[in-house]
Amino acid sequence: MFLSLYLKRAENCVVGICLFFDDRYVREFVIENDYELILANLKRINRLLDSRSCVSSDMLGWVDCVDYKVDEKIKIILEKIKSEADIVFVLGIGGSYLGAKMAIDFLKSPFYNFKCKPKILFLGNSVNAEPILDAFEISKDKNVWVIVVSKSGSTLEVCASLGLVEEFMLKKYGSKSSEKIIAITGENGNLRSRASAKKWEIFTIPLGVGGRFSVLSVAGLIPIGVSGANIEEILCGARVACKDFGYCSFDYNDCLKYAARRICLHKKGYSVEILASFDVRMGSFCEWWKQLFGESEGKNGKGIFPASAMFSADLHSLGQFIQQGSKILFETMIVSEFPAKDVVVPEDNSLISNKSFHYINSKIFEGTLEAHFEGKVPCMVLKFKNFSEFELGYLIFFFEKACALSALALEVNPFDQPGVENYKRAVKCRL
Ligand code: PA5
Repeated sequence: MFLSLYLKRAENCVVGICLFFDDRYVREFVIENDYELILANLKRINRLLDSRSCVSSDMLGWVDCVDYKVDEKIKIILEKIKSEADIVFVLGIGGSYLGAKMAIDFLKSPFYNFKCKPKILFLGNSVNAEPILDAFEISKDKNVWVIVVSKSGSTLEVCASLGLVEEFMLKKYGSKSSEKIIAITGENGNLRSRASAKKWEIFTIPLGVGGRFSVLSVAGLIPIGVSGANIEEILCGARVACKDFGYCSFDYNDCLKYAARRICLHKKGYSVEILASFDVRMGSFCEWWKQLFGESEGKNGKGIFPASAMFSADLHSLGQFIQQGSKILFETMIVSEFPAKDVVVPEDNSLISNKSFHYINSKIFEGTLEAHFEGKVPCMVLKFKNFSEFELGYLIFFFEKACALSALALEVNPFDQPGVENYKRAVKCRL
């Protein structure tokens, strides 16, 4: 049923062809009149955002990212890393890590490191000695490159790891180590001066691109490109989404509708949104989404708490709570029309005999949707086509825009993170 609806909408060009948004399983939980009012407000905010007259409009650099042209400097460094490196350490935390990680898992699989070269090890997202010492251990006899990503250049977790990584590279390569370290950072700050002094190659994250909105800037694109993904195609998907969800495209586009449904549910007392997916490739995507919405909306005592569930695994754990626990949450199920790979269950005289994994998984999705809806959980469905670069770019922009719109509608600044800055200060004064 979903596939035919999806194709029908695509043929009619009612909305962008990449995403099918279904809000039928939410309608009975909200008052349609409230929803229409919120939608109208979001339409107004979308106009302000597109004309750069919203709050913090100097932080809309993520919109400009879609027009970014992958230049020769990036192409050259990517070719060099891909041909030389066995292992790449990518140091970063928060927005300087989650976007690249989710894109690689989405496009290449969470098992990327078991089957591809160069392996990509994400470091600097904790202050635990084990990951870093293990990374050194497995890289002893390998060709190693380092990409350090930090817009501010002063994030403690990243700085702690960078010192050790630099030492490791110096021991391994001596003065040549500086040719194998690149820094992706803001227009000024400690990392920039450190990188210039040491003659590391530097790529600049533009001023108006905040961390959690930076995956389509060099902060995300370079590490993603190292995995062999086509970063131009990601940008292409994002460009189409930017057009589809722009103020001029449709009066009420799906991005506005998704944002409006969330806010409507929030106003009805639902305080948790679970992004639920049915594919292992989506695990890191959910982590990226949680940061995007959590840091953007959660301030001034407002916001929807972003949580995630990975089905089927979580159907045998969180699923019970989702369906029959306290009624504080709603779900957004995000599903791919086509899987990355498929396989058929051998003949065994059971219900699943000769059926493909994707077919069975799609029945799990339909059954879960029905059961959760019957359990009085408001459910939205977002269906995308496949795990391609284009679709990823489209999804990224969809959520970035939905997030900015939702936060602005809640009257909070989507682009700052005063709470995070407080924790950073509280830690620093204890060191
Ligand atoms: O969204 C944000 O701005 C934050 O999550 C940052 O990305 C995170 O704190 C890392 O900051 P930086 O890139 O400056 O090291």
